[in-house]
Amino acid sequence: MNYIKIDLERHLGQIHPHIFGGFAEHLGRCLYGGIYQPGSPLADERGFRRDVLAALHRLQMTIMRYPGGNFVSGYHWRDGVGPVADRPARLELAWRTVEPNHFGTNEFIQFCRQLNVDPFIVVNCGDGDMREARDWVEYCNGTQNTTLANLRRQHGFAEPHQVKYWGIGNEIDGSWQIGYKTPEEYARAYLEFAKVMKWVDPSIKLIASAVSSWRAEYVERIQLLIEQAPDLIDYLALHWYVGNPENDFAQYMAVSELLEQRLSAIEGLIQAVRLQRGITRPIAIAVDEWNVWYRMQGTTREELHDLEEKYNLEDALVVAMHFNAFIRHARSVKMANIAQIVNVLAPIFTRPDDLFLQSIFHPFELYSRNCGRIALDAYWSGDTFSSGDYTALRTLDVAATLDDRARKLSVFVVNRSATQAQETTLKLDGGQFTGTGCAWIVNGPDLKAENSFTDPNRVGTTEASVTTRSTSANFTFEPHSVTALSFDL
Ligand code: AHR
Repeated sequence: MNYIKIDLERHLGQIHPHIFGGFAEHLGRCLYGGIYQPGSPLADERGFRRDVLAALHRLQMTIMRYPGGNFVSGYHWRDGVGPVADRPARLELAWRTVEPNHFGTNEFIQFCRQLNVDPFIVVNCGDGDMREARDWVEYCNGTQNTTLANLRRQHGFAEPHQVKYWGIGNEIDGSWQIGYKTPEEYARAYLEFAKVMKWVDPSIKLIASAVSSWRAEYVERIQLLIEQAPDLIDYLALHWYVGNPENDFAQYMAVSELLEQRLSAIEGLIQAVRLQRGITRPIAIAVDEWNVWYRMQGTTREELHDLEEKYNLEDALVVAMHFNAFIRHARSVKMANIAQIVNVLAPIFTRPDDLFLQSIFHPFELYSRNCGRIALDAYWSGDTFSSGDYTALRTLDVAATLDDRARKLSVFVVNRSATQAQETTLKLDGGQFTGTGCAWIVNGPDLKAENSFTDPNRVGTTEASVTTRSTSANFTFEPHSVTALSFDL
């Protein structure tokens, strides 16, 4: 028997809607053949796949990161603006291919407007320089009579794009990156890039590339960055990918501990440096690349398979645990971008004439639809499991949110038992349930169940009702499931 207790007055922090972010890179079939397929009967007049847009709309994403990823460290934005026929095809070294540059800044902005998401552009801090970065800000956001703002107007965009979120470099701590930088080199480059970009448009928010290599010297890297550019960092970007290469379900489910450890460590580090240096400005965390990625790994194109990972039910549970962690760390995690959105490590998988929704689509939809604006400090106890060094891990992984305007409580629960349903009593403090609650359950026949073109609904969402009594409710969570409970208060 499990027990979840929620006190409506115990707030952990405000949840930023940007935790439901996406990421679209020039990589494999994410853009070309995913989002963008001009000439296809499925595409609109701009070349955007209507079916893909409709599926993305269901996810209610809020922000989109672009154009990379590793790609951006060799990308020069001028190649991707102006008449398509005049754009150069370039050798692309990050993924060893040829980039036609048919999709560029303006196509990206139009895509964001269509999806109603905030654009988030990462500048090239690999083989690009600060002049190119500041010029990109001016091209996008310039309002004066300057050559770059006029170039945008000449390209058909009279109004500024008003891109507010700008990342400086991608995974700059990794040897695989074009233009890898040591902590000292990056802190120095960041400061100079950030300075001129903000001078062009002081309203922009800047994201520093902090950690992707979790075994490298990230403590030193973050300390240097904050010390050298305390007034110019709005977010520190973290990246991670997780997986189940050993095919050990319990070990995979214990990934929640890794997420907690990493987020708590970075929160503590930011706090420590701010305290030591008397920095009063807040610095948030942006987990601007995260997902499951372990199957399509390697160094050659053949091994990588354009990163077209096929996801199963256990991956969907792991995606849900990410959202639980982001909610529990709502005070510091102000942005998170699933990597990526279509075909490449993605919840949506296309072929020229169709698409299907991968298992991980369903938890994303569940959370973005039901998440309130306030993270609540849920207490829970009950059945446990062990994995390796971890003992007494609670079988349920829980997060709770409050929508204070609509007076709605949402409780998100991942049942990490492969075989056991989990009977649970929910107790409420500081309010009362009114009427019957609703449950949306993501599940499938077994842990390895996947969706495909031939069987698109093996993993999906079902609905049930939840009986309530004043301040309590009972619910039995299905084995290997993700559930969102929603209650009117
Ligand atoms: O999302 C795929 C790749 O993963 C990105 O290009 C890179 O930033 C990360 O290593």
